[in-house]
Amino acid sequence: MTLSRRDLLKAGVFATAATALPLQRVVRAASAYDSRMAASKLPQPFTIPFATPPVARPVRTDATTDYYSFTMTTALAELVPGYRTPLLSYQGSVPGPTVKVAQGRRVVARHANLLPALHPTLKYEPWTSVHLHGSASLPQYDGYASDITRPGQYKDYVYPNVQPARTLWYHDHGVHHTAENAYHGLAAQYHLFDPNEQALPIPHGEFDVPLVLSDAVFKANGELLFTLEDESGLWGDVLLVNGRPWPVMKVKRRKYRFRVLDASISRSYRLSLDTGDPMWIIGTDGGLMPAPQQVTSFRMLSGERYEVVIDFSKYRAGQRVVLKNTSPKNNRDYPNTDRIMAFDVIADSFGTADNAIPDVLDPVSSVMALRESDAARTRTFRFHRTNGEWKVNDTTWKDIEESGYRKVSADPRRGDTEIWEFQNNSGGWFHPVHVHLVDFRVLSRNGQAPFAHELGPKDVIYLGENETVRVLVKFEGVGRYMIHCHNLVHEDHDMMTQFEVLDPNGPGDDPMGTPARLLGQAPPL
Ligand code: C2O
Ligand code: CU
Ligand code: CU
Repeated sequence: MTLSRRDLLKAGVFATAATALPLQRVVRAASAYDSRMAASKLPQPFTIPFATPPVARPVRTDATTDYYSFTMTTALAELVPGYRTPLLSYQGSVPGPTVKVAQGRRVVARHANLLPALHPTLKYEPWTSVHLHGSASLPQYDGYASDITRPGQYKDYVYPNVQPARTLWYHDHGVHHTAENAYHGLAAQYHLFDPNEQALPIPHGEFDVPLVLSDAVFKANGELLFTLEDESGLWGDVLLVNGRPWPVMKVKRRKYRFRVLDASISRSYRLSLDTGDPMWIIGTDGGLMPAPQQVTSFRMLSGERYEVVIDFSKYRAGQRVVLKNTSPKNNRDYPNTDRIMAFDVIADSFGTADNAIPDVLDPVSSVMALRESDAARTRTFRFHRTNGEWKVNDTTWKDIEESGYRKVSADPRRGDTEIWEFQNNSGGWFHPVHVHLVDFRVLSRNGQAPFAHELGPKDVIYLGENETVRVLVKFEGVGRYMIHCHNLVHEDHDMMTQFEVLDPNGPGDDPMGTPARLLGQAPPL
């Protein structure tokens, strides 16, 4: 039996452990990482073919709505050749199936938890809460951490899809087990299209490719190793793209658009090409940027999405281009974590339409048009570790639970624009700061202009070591939504709070008000 930090806290043990050196030494001597699979058994980079996750198919559609039925099940997958790794899946697939939907069409997604009563290797009860990250969903459909679906239950989620085109992702958010659940496979992309984005001559279809980045550590028997260690995070020695270690993709001599998602539970990346050639960022978390930004490298962390165009036309057939990772600080590096995947350029013919990067992408983005002078007020959020606990403004999710989910760290009024300032006064770690419901515009980092790749609508921000980041955000929607660190180990222990958007016409829906139901009671979808 293993005690989580939470159990220890309950038992009052952790406060002692934090200062008792002998126990710390014991813990360190028995580092769980010591039991990991020998490096010689791991796959070699660029030996496994690239693949994309399956595309989800609705079970039915009507005039307004696409209906999906998803089951969460355990799966065995051969991630490392010769080994079978127990995983948690949406629809048997890791990552889960990609949902594709047109703006204005509602989605109803039934998520049935068919997981066993205990996690196959970690032995906790794998309750879930499905969050569609990037969607302004009503509170009861937002994957509120404590709104759990237990094994044998299901919940129907409703997504409005009225926002601008963007790359969203759905992933587990079940309280205290988000990290384990997402690490074992409960994550997938979700693409929202709109007429502006579809009309642009940027790569579409075959040349619009999801890249779900993650990392993993394997035990000698092929199971995933999950350890909290000092709860700073989990860093794998194997990098995966769409669930495949260091894959190699065949590319034609033209432009591709990659929807890059950092689905790692802790790791951050700095991406570049080994040729040193530029890439063009055309989209961020909340959709297309006003204008493309040319970069030779950019950093990203857990939860962020970037749409990146790479132009392979300048390379000759037969050339290999490597997507590299020059790891930002405070990650743990291993021999092959300096590279992510490879592109092998082939001579095949290709369609020449939609092979451009126009100078103007989204001229009407409402969030990028927000002005600092419109801000009604400024609020400050400190992301800190105090007495061994991860907190936001001295608050943890436990405080929210104990308040009956009433306590909030901010209460903006509907329609107001505010400046939110995020602070990390530590040099020892970085935090991916995520605010549910909204998109924001980055104003500054440590008083300087944001990086080029951040000049688009965002919902996660890289809050690096000793950084202060200011963002501008307008609150539309009503009710209580989470704010948390997207290093999922920090989130689970317990770096999460909430805010409430107030509306004079009454409170928003209760995030806990539409609980999961027993599978046997499910009406037809
Ligand atoms: Cu991607 Cu609150 O999560
Ligand atoms: Cu989210
Ligand atoms: Cu954090």
